Amino acid sequence: MNEKDFFEDQDKCLLGDREEDPSAHNGSDSSTDEEKISREKEEDVFEIRANDPFQEEDDEEGDDDDDEKEEGDVNKEDYSDVGLKKEVNKEEEEKEEEEKEEEEEKGYYGARRENGGEEDFLESIGLKREIEKAEKRIRKYIRETPLVYSLYLSQLSGCEVYLKFESAQITGSFKLRGALNKILSLSKKERKTILVTASSGNHGAAFAYAVKKFGLKGMIYLPGYTTKAKIDALKDYDVVLKFFGTDCVKTEEHARGEAEKNNLLYIPPYNDLKIIAGHGTIGIELRRQIDKIDIVFVPVGGGGLISGIIGYLKPVDKNIKIIGCQPLNSPVMYKSVRVGKIIEMESKPTLSDGSAGGIEKGSITFDICKKYVDDFVLVSEQEIKEAMRLMIEKHFSLVEGAGALSVASFLQQKEIYKRKTVVLVLSGSKIALAQLKEVIS
Ligand SMILES: Cc1ncc(COP(=O)(O)O)c(C=O)c1O
Repeated sequence: MNEKDFFEDQDKCLLGDREEDPSAHNGSDSSTDEEKISREKEEDVFEIRANDPFQEEDDEEGDDDDDEKEEGDVNKEDYSDVGLKKEVNKEEEEKEEEEKEEEEEKGYYGARRENGGEEDFLESIGLKREIEKAEKRIRKYIRETPLVYSLYLSQLSGCEVYLKFESAQITGSFKLRGALNKILSLSKKERKTILVTASSGNHGAAFAYAVKKFGLKGMIYLPGYTTKAKIDALKDYDVVLKFFGTDCVKTEEHARGEAEKNNLLYIPPYNDLKIIAGHGTIGIELRRQIDKIDIVFVPVGGGGLISGIIGYLKPVDKNIKIIGCQPLNSPVMYKSVRVGKIIEMESKPTLSDGSAGGIEKGSITFDICKKYVDDFVLVSEQEIKEAMRLMIEKHFSLVEGAGALSVASFLQQKEIYKRKTVVLVLSGSKIALAQLKEVIS
């Protein structure tokens, strides 16, 4: 599909189904009664088909609150007491609102008391609950990635080292978890618009996969430095690709702005509770796969991955330490946490292109990292290269630069963690051939 068709489709799409049906405009439907009945039957079947992931979601959780239009349509079918229903609905809504406020107030003071006067931030944003919902929503579309004991790293370090192969996730990285959770949470109305995102590749690939799988329309803004391997992977999907900026945060701001200007829907790569919650399902898997964890090393860019893992593991076991791993050439989250606010800084070229670049202003991931990341480790390009080589030589696995940050950071810090059970999250696998040559040469 070329871009012109895409935008024509977009116009149609934004008008909604009713507007596309000419008979809906002039009210003249020349079908016979039989045809009408069979069409209505078909529509009913469509509405309740059991394998519609969005429909299941709407029914299951009843939190499809953006779907005002569809709710209005349902009421329209029953003409007898529309006014009365409206009144009742209004009263019910007001009552619900009051009850919600009371609940929130109780929760707030309760939490403050329990925590010696300080409200627990994770609890206040309901992240663990969101992760549990995400688990139900996305489980059948994702892989439970292997957790593999590394004999080599364990013997080398005196720790019990496990590798979490998110590099083996569908689309090549953990990003599918967040993208699916976000997209499967959209309302019917939202699903009809064009979805826009910004990504240096892995979130883009996951987004493109999800958009294609569920027959939606998508557009991706990429920073200019995106590797050929990542661009090629995107070309297989029916998404429009656009390039903007040389730092992912500028690309994100631009994409968000364009989406707002054109009434499209922006799907953020990390600054979003549903995206973070999707990534948090890694925490659920880890708890299923291993009895005890002391430390988890997690690659950090915008902070979505680590926020999700924190969001599940910290509430279930507050003793688990979560270590953020960044390249020395682009340590934006680390520096921001140190000074207590999101900073802008130039990133240098890095093998960890997946994690490189700035953080969106006001990102919720910053607050989570600031409050809950136990430590950060910064690694050099040489250390990243050695970690990638080690993964090939000892585990016969391709892990991209960002994915190998956890291995590189652990190798740097291994003396500190002797006899502990350590999990290294290998977050992705997309390496350009040129980069691979550089690593193994
Ligand atoms: C392979 C890989 N690892 C780590 C990250 C960092 O993830 P986050 O931005 O959620 O911190 C990314 C981001 O795109 C990535 O692609």
